[in-house]
Amino acid sequence: MASDTPVQHHALVLSKVGEPMVLETRPVPKPGPGSVIIRVLAASVRSNTPHVYRDPNSGHPLPLPFVPGFAAIGKVVDIGPDATKLKPGQLVFFDPYIQGRDDLETIYVSGLMEGFTEGKDPHPLSRAEWRDSTYAEYAKLPLENCHALNEQRLLGDAKDGGLGYTMDDLTHIFSMLIPFGGLADIDVKAGDTVIIAPATGRYGSAAVHVALAMGSRVIAIGRNAAILSQLETISPRLSTVQITNDIDKDTKALRSASPGGVDAFWDMSPPAAGTSTHFRSCLNVLNSGGRVSLEGSVVSGVSFSYMDILMGGLTIKGTWMCTREQTMRLIRMVESGVLPLGATAGMGPVKTFKLEQWKEALDTAAVRTEPGEIVFAP
Ligand SMILES: NC(=O)c1ccc[n+]([C@@H]2O[C@H](COP(=O)([O-])OP(=O)(O)OC[C@H]3O[C@@H](n4cnc5c(N)ncnc54)[C@H](OP(=O)(O)O)[C@@H]3O)[C@@H](O)[C@H]2O)c1
Repeated sequence: MASDTPVQHHALVLSKVGEPMVLETRPVPKPGPGSVIIRVLAASVRSNTPHVYRDPNSGHPLPLPFVPGFAAIGKVVDIGPDATKLKPGQLVFFDPYIQGRDDLETIYVSGLMEGFTEGKDPHPLSRAEWRDSTYAEYAKLPLENCHALNEQRLLGDAKDGGLGYTMDDLTHIFSMLIPFGGLADIDVKAGDTVIIAPATGRYGSAAVHVALAMGSRVIAIGRNAAILSQLETISPRLSTVQITNDIDKDTKALRSASPGGVDAFWDMSPPAAGTSTHFRSCLNVLNSGGRVSLEGSVVSGVSFSYMDILMGGLTIKGTWMCTREQTMRLIRMVESGVLPLGATAGMGPVKTFKLEQWKEALDTAAVRTEPGEIVFAP
């Protein structure tokens, strides 16, 4: 254990959905085999986080009472006996997608959602070792979910070969992780033309940056003209189309933005976009053999017809979260510099909160869905 690690720390605890969180003083957790203890430096607050912790009907089962949280960046302070690479002092990225080691189908999205585990009650991951997440000063996490970050390269000065990022800059990886899973799953590559929809939110705008870094031409679409015009400044390989919900008009606009047609369509629509006509307009402009990535929560369903898929030779891939290999690849893209981070790369502002400001953080996340990050910096 790092010599300056205290005996106790502060952690937010949620006992009941809809009730206030409480900042508790607890013993700093101890590592066992397969785990690591990190000092949390930044933990992500998502736009659906307030809904999940405040609405009993959110559809997100939680292991109450527990320490909420999600993706995080931190410093390793202690390791279990089987750690082979991580060491105290190492900067790490925590991917919250926890899978059973002996059954990859059993999952817990740390801090935000217990997976469905037929016949396995209590949930073997969230109701036991990994119940508590990252809205705390220290967190005990699965070793394999903590990915080493090259601190010298990322935070170091340019004169020493560093990229000169701040911790705030690094938090932009939070919104890129899940979009990268979907984009990688449909094999987006250099030279492709990809529609990103909706591109005006936190995940969507991050997907724009990731798809550009993967070498594609991007058509960013959404309803919000102001955010679309901000996105336009990011790259000459990017064009935007505003969704008007007039299928003919939107199809024409997409065609004129993509003279060579569209190779892939990535979508992360929230439930509210279930009636949006952009699904139809985007299918209309897909080239034969087009690939479609679905990552949102359109519970109402969309009208992909049998014949659309057959005649278009379409491949449709649903993606939940991001695999371990994809997470490592995303980190390599950032460390290599091919995926630049921060305001200078055109990313939105980072708003940080202390743990005691939990109410303000959740209120902000509930109303602020535009590009940028919202994080606890405990
Ligand atoms: N696959 C996964 O692993 C995974 C992981 C996390 C989350 N999700 C799901 O992904 C969804 C999106 O997440 P998010 O955090 O980006 O949600 P969000 O913040 O609620 O979504 C914001 C985006 O949706 C757009 N939008 C909202 N209502 C719309 C409508 N009626 N028509 C067209 N666009 C609309 C917004 O555009 P405007 O600017 O026009 O409002 C904005 O671009 C969520 O429902 C979440 O459950 C999936």
